[in-house]
Amino acid sequence: METKISSPNLGAIAAVRGSVVDVRFEGPLPPIYSVLRAGAENEMVIEVLAQRDARHVRGIALTPTQGLARGMVVTDTGGPLKAPVGQAILSRMFDVFGQAIDRKPPPAEVQWRSVHRDPPPLARRSTKSEIFETGIKVIDVLVPLERGGKAGLFGGAGVGKTVLLTEMIHNMIGHQQGVSIFCGIGERCREGEELYREMKAAGVLPNMVMVFGQMNEPPGSRFRVGHTALTMAEYFRDDEHRDVLLLIDNIFRFIQAGMEVSGLMGQMPSRLGYQPTMGTELSGLEERIANTDTGAITSIQAVYVPADDFTDPAAVHTFSHLSASIVLSRKRASEGLFPAIDPLQSSSKMATPGIIGERHYALAQAIRRTLAQYGELKDIIAMLGLEQLSPEDRKVVARARLLERFLTQPFFTTEQFTGLTGKLVSLKDALDGCERILHDEFKDYPESGLYMIGPISEARGKPQTAPPVPPPKPDAKPGAKVAAPPADKGQPAAPSDPAAEQQSKPESAPKPKAEPKPAPAPAGPVPPLPAAKPQPQVEHADVTHAS
Ligand SMILES: Nc1ncnc2c1ncn2[C@@H]1O[C@H](COP(=O)(O)OP(=O)(O)OP(=O)(O)O)[C@@H](O)[C@H]1O
Ligand SMILES: [Mg+2]
Repeated sequence: METKISSPNLGAIAAVRGSVVDVRFEGPLPPIYSVLRAGAENEMVIEVLAQRDARHVRGIALTPTQGLARGMVVTDTGGPLKAPVGQAILSRMFDVFGQAIDRKPPPAEVQWRSVHRDPPPLARRSTKSEIFETGIKVIDVLVPLERGGKAGLFGGAGVGKTVLLTEMIHNMIGHQQGVSIFCGIGERCREGEELYREMKAAGVLPNMVMVFGQMNEPPGSRFRVGHTALTMAEYFRDDEHRDVLLLIDNIFRFIQAGMEVSGLMGQMPSRLGYQPTMGTELSGLEERIANTDTGAITSIQAVYVPADDFTDPAAVHTFSHLSASIVLSRKRASEGLFPAIDPLQSSSKMATPGIIGERHYALAQAIRRTLAQYGELKDIIAMLGLEQLSPEDRKVVARARLLERFLTQPFFTTEQFTGLTGKLVSLKDALDGCERILHDEFKDYPESGLYMIGPISEARGKPQTAPPVPPPKPDAKPGAKVAAPPADKGQPAAPSDPAAEQQSKPESAPKPKAEPKPAPAPAGPVPPLPAAKPQPQVEHADVTHAS
C-alpha cells in the first residue's frame, strides 16, 4: 500500500525496558528478525521479535541500551542479522555482528549472509558412519566420536569441560583437513583470548575462525552468536565443500540466553523457569549442524549441567540431539582421575560392532562390565573390607582399578600446571593396553605405574619385585584438584576411595596408624617432581648454613 521510497523506514522508540525495546513505525512494520539500528552512530542494534499491533514492534537489543530514550529515531535496516562468509574470514576472530575483534582491519571480499537459515532438507543429508579419533584413550575406546556427528561434554562447574574441549582442538586440528570454527557462548572472555593465543602459537590459526559472544554481552547477543558461527560453518560446508569442525563452549549458555530473552519479552516461563520455546530454539540451532553430500559439520559442544543435575531440562534436551554424550563426573575429578569422564554414564551411538569392529566392541563391553562390577563391589568393600571378597571378585577389583588408572592421560593443554608432558595415544595402543590389563598381564604392577601414562608400554614399576599393592602414603594430599595428581603420583586415589583404604589397611599398615615418615623415604619408582624439588633444597641449604 505504501509507495516505494528510497529513504529508509524510520521509527521512534516507544518504550525501553532493559534489553527490550518497543518501536513505533508510521510506515510499514518491519518483519520479524529485522535488524533496527539506533543511537548517534547507529551503534545500537535491535532485533525485531514480535509485532505488537499495527504500529508497534517489540525487539531485543543485541548491544547495551544505555542512552536509549523514548522518541529517539530508529532506522530499519531492511534485513536480518548477517554474518560475513568467505575465505577472508579464516584466521580471524569475530563478534555476533561479524565485526573483527582481533584488532585487525575488517576482512575484505566477504559476502554477508543472513544468520537465519533452514536446516538442510532430509534428502540432502548423508548417512555415512565413520569414527573420529581424538587421541584420548578413554574417549576413543569407550565413547568413540562420529565424524560428522555431534558430541556433548556434560559436566557441572569446573570438572574440566573447557580443558577437554581445548585438548580435542589441539589433538584434532593438526591432522584435520577442513576448517575449524570455535564459538564461545557466554563463557569467560579470558578463555577466548587464551585460546586465540594458543592457536596462534600452534600455527593452526590459518584454518580456524573464532566467534565470541561471552558472558559480558547482553542476552540478545549471546542468543545469536551461535547462529553467526553456524552460518560461517554452513558456508564452508555448502560452498567450499569442506569438512568443518564446530566447537561450542557452552551450549547451555545459548539456552540460558534464550531464557533471558523470553523472560524479557514477557513470555510465561515453563519448567524450572526455562522458556516455553526451549526445544524449538535448540533444535533450530542443532538441526543445522548436519552432514550433507558435500561436506560434514562435526560438532563438539560443552554442556554445563546446572548443579550437577542431569535431569535438568536443558541437559535433557541437549542429550537428545547428540550422537555421543561424554559425562564428566565430579567424583573422578576430585580423585585426580583426569580426564574425569565417567565411562558408565557416557555413551556413543557409534559403539556397535558393525561400526567399530568386533574386537573393539567386545573390549569396550568387557571394560564397562569390569568397571560396573567394581562399582557394585565398592559398597561391600567399604563395609566388610577387601579381604571379605571372593578371589574372583578381588581380581575384578584389581583389574578395574588398573583400568581406571590406565584410562587417565596427561594433556598437552595442562602441561603448565601438571608438569606432565601431554600424550596422544592411538586407538590401537589404547585397545592393546586395555586388553592386556583385562588379561591380568599387569596384575603385579603398582596401580600408580599406570596413572597418567600414554600407551601401556610406558607402564612404570617393576613387576618382578611384585609388591601386590604399593605402600600408600598416609599423608595423601586431600586437595586433589590440580597439584595433587603430580605431587602424589605414587598414589593417585583420594583418601575417600573406600577400596584404596581397605587395600592399604591389611597389607601395609597392620599396626596402629604409622607416622607419615617412612612412606616418603622409599618414595617408590617415581622420580621426584619439579614441584617437590625446591622444598628439600632450601632446607638443605639452611642446614648447611646453620652447621
Ligand atoms: N585433564 C586435566 N588435567 C589436570 N587438571 C584438569 C584437567 N581437566 C580439568 N582440570 C582442572 O579443573 C579445572 C577446571 O577445568 P575447566 O575450566 O575445564 O572446567 P569447566 O568444566 O570448563 O568449568 P566451567 O563450567 O566453570 O567452565 C582446571 O582449571 C584444572 O585445574
Ligand atoms: Mg569452561
